[in-house]
Amino acid sequence: MAQRQTVVITAELPSLATAILSRKFDVVAHPSVGPRSEQALITLISEADAAITLLSDPVTRRVLESNPNLRIVANYAVGVDNVDLRAAAELGVVVTNTPGVLTDATADMTLALLLAAARRIVEGDRLVRAGEFHGWTPLMLLGASLRGKRLGILGMGRIGGAVAARARGFGLEIIYHSRSGNSEVERATGARLVALDELLRTSDFVSVHTPLTPETRHLIDASALGMMKSTAYLINTARGSVIDEPALAEALRTGRLRGAALDVYESEPSVHPALLRLDNVVLLPHLGSATVETRNEMARIAAENVVAVLDGLPPLNPVSQSDQDDSRPEPSGAGERTG
Ligand code: DGY
Repeated sequence: MAQRQTVVITAELPSLATAILSRKFDVVAHPSVGPRSEQALITLISEADAAITLLSDPVTRRVLESNPNLRIVANYAVGVDNVDLRAAAELGVVVTNTPGVLTDATADMTLALLLAAARRIVEGDRLVRAGEFHGWTPLMLLGASLRGKRLGILGMGRIGGAVAARARGFGLEIIYHSRSGNSEVERATGARLVALDELLRTSDFVSVHTPLTPETRHLIDASALGMMKSTAYLINTARGSVIDEPALAEALRTGRLRGAALDVYESEPSVHPALLRLDNVVLLPHLGSATVETRNEMARIAAENVVAVLDGLPPLNPVSQSDQDDSRPEPSGAGERTG
């Protein structure tokens, strides 16, 4: 009898993944321990025919070369900036992601963060817990209204579009910047494609939804922050490195920018210490897709991609280097980055 193939899962996932995979394969599921080093990952997947990896796993060329049996890396995320796609293609390792199923969860979280920053929800919660709510007063914790304000969306993939649809309900006017227009979203929400400078200079809220690529790394740096209105808010549920974190902390500290809300960071799980000291930034631990339903769907998709590839069929959600090079909305969904 042929030996069963082995699937390694680098962290604890919803049990649906193991339920699907263990019908046909030996599954080795490791506990979640936070980000792993390249060497730790090499050791972990050394016996694997397939690996389900996290966005924090550095799937480098060295990792891919270390195991000649590896046929697929199914990344448990829509973002694939942790995977060396060029090396994978050269070595014949399929890479897949989990597009589509986390669009709504991430768009919901984006609006939650926008509201939290604009209406000072976390500051209010802290005040009450500190026993400092001494009664309603007209000037306590005043925030910003949404109706009639302008939301600038950076990157108009699935998640950017879902954010635009929700934002309309709050009376926000929508402009966006992306490499190409998204006429469907324009028709549905009245969104207008603009140059990056115009978006930065005129938006009351800027929300980041671009993938992390060499072109988008530090897209929001000190000079971009310098163009924004001093009354504006910056929201990021995409990838931390799109923003220069020290520059953002400085802009928030000096009042150059009124507020921010972040779900993602440059060197997760570390958060720049200057951000931790500020009251005008809301900080979440990368929760954009964290709903029971979404994480189950992500597990199902990752497992089904593994089953397909180990059965010799085409993957359901392949990702290629050209997706990585392209921050436009595209079919695989790799153009989305989420929290
Ligand atoms: C992703 O999918 O890329 C995330 O950031 C986690 O859901």
